[in-house]
Amino acid sequence: MKDTTLGLYSTHDLREAARRRLPHGLFEFMDRGNDDDVAMHHNRAALESVKLVPRVLVDVSKRSQEITLLGKKQKMPIIVAPTGSAGLAWYEGEIALARAAAAYGIPFTLASGSMTKLERVAAEAGGTLWMQFYMWPDRSLSHHLIARARDAGFEALVFTVDTPVAPGREYNLRNGFTIPFRFTRRNVTDVLMHPRWLIGTLGRYLVTTGMPRYENFPPNTQTRITALPMGRSTALNNTLTWDDVRQLRKLWPGKLIVKGIQHPRDAVLAADCGADAVVLSNHGGRVLDASGATIHALPRVVEAVKKRITVIVDSGFRRGSDVVKALALGADAVMVGRAPLHGTASAGEAGALRALQIYRDEIDRVLALIGCTSVAELGPEYVEMPR
Ligand SMILES: Cc1cc2nc3c(=O)[nH]c(=O)nc-3n(C[C@H](O)[C@H](O)[C@H](O)COP(=O)(O)O)c2cc1C
Repeated sequence: MKDTTLGLYSTHDLREAARRRLPHGLFEFMDRGNDDDVAMHHNRAALESVKLVPRVLVDVSKRSQEITLLGKKQKMPIIVAPTGSAGLAWYEGEIALARAAAAYGIPFTLASGSMTKLERVAAEAGGTLWMQFYMWPDRSLSHHLIARARDAGFEALVFTVDTPVAPGREYNLRNGFTIPFRFTRRNVTDVLMHPRWLIGTLGRYLVTTGMPRYENFPPNTQTRITALPMGRSTALNNTLTWDDVRQLRKLWPGKLIVKGIQHPRDAVLAADCGADAVVLSNHGGRVLDASGATIHALPRVVEAVKKRITVIVDSGFRRGSDVVKALALGADAVMVGRAPLHGTASAGEAGALRALQIYRDEIDRVLALIGCTSVAELGPEYVEMPR
């Protein structure tokens, strides 16, 4: 029988396998935070400081981690987060990752900055698809993208609102991992020293469709990753307000999710503007290094929205126990970013499947160990917050 473990037993193993296969600059681009990586490490430290309090002598012989999220049943309480670079991690990595999510019965979120056309992901992966986007300064271009996602059958729109300006990521500058990509002696040597990625990923693009490009950007701005900076029309937008959410509510018939809120008041505003869900997120510690851990903010956000909208949380969730902690504190589901991305980077679809298998097995084990047979039974009484 085929060994589906790939010899990788935790999400930390997936990260290490990705580190070995990817050029150093690309690995840092995918793995690190911003500034001093404080928020990224704090996410982990905070999750580790929250404890679970088990109940015993409960018959846990039959367990399920199924949930109903935004009106739809799913087999696990996690969602694959949008990570713009899955298609750089592996040849057509977005399709690999989306297929893995479909196999595990969970939603996959495609990032607008991905390398594979959204229509192809829909046609070749299926499953429950969510579309993430940043609102471009020329809003009509974003609205066009949204219409494409609707026509391709994407069920939810994820509007990321936490990046009005580019984050401080000095490591990308040092590595030459900028937009446009700059060829330097350092990064060319880096790429040559990672032949598995060079041949298996970059090489496959070069002999098929050419240098990877932002396939979901409007045709006239669809630059190769090595091309000149994109024009103003598709840069980050620092003029956005809650009116944009109200307008999206009118435009988008499916589920509307606002990603990147941290303040309880913003969660309430999202509900007021007609959003169906928020993602409580500090972008995995990649945007504001002084931001707090989402597991600490979660109880306040849950209390503020009073079940008016769905609360999804992300940033730092590497273990099944982390996911269970968030669910017990009132989250409806958890998004996971780097771990499935590392899985994809290490072994394509098999690696993405392995990442989700690890979460599934760990969630299942932790539920049993704390005396719960379903997610519905979880509540704050299972959690001890740090004093
Ligand atoms: C390499 C990388 C690229 C990302 N790209 C996007 C993106 O394009 N849009 C977005 O909303 N979030 C993006 N994110 C953030 C994730 O959606 C998610 O919030 C974060 O990864 C969660 O933290 P975790 O990686 O610790 O699980 C990205 C994250 C990573 C690691």
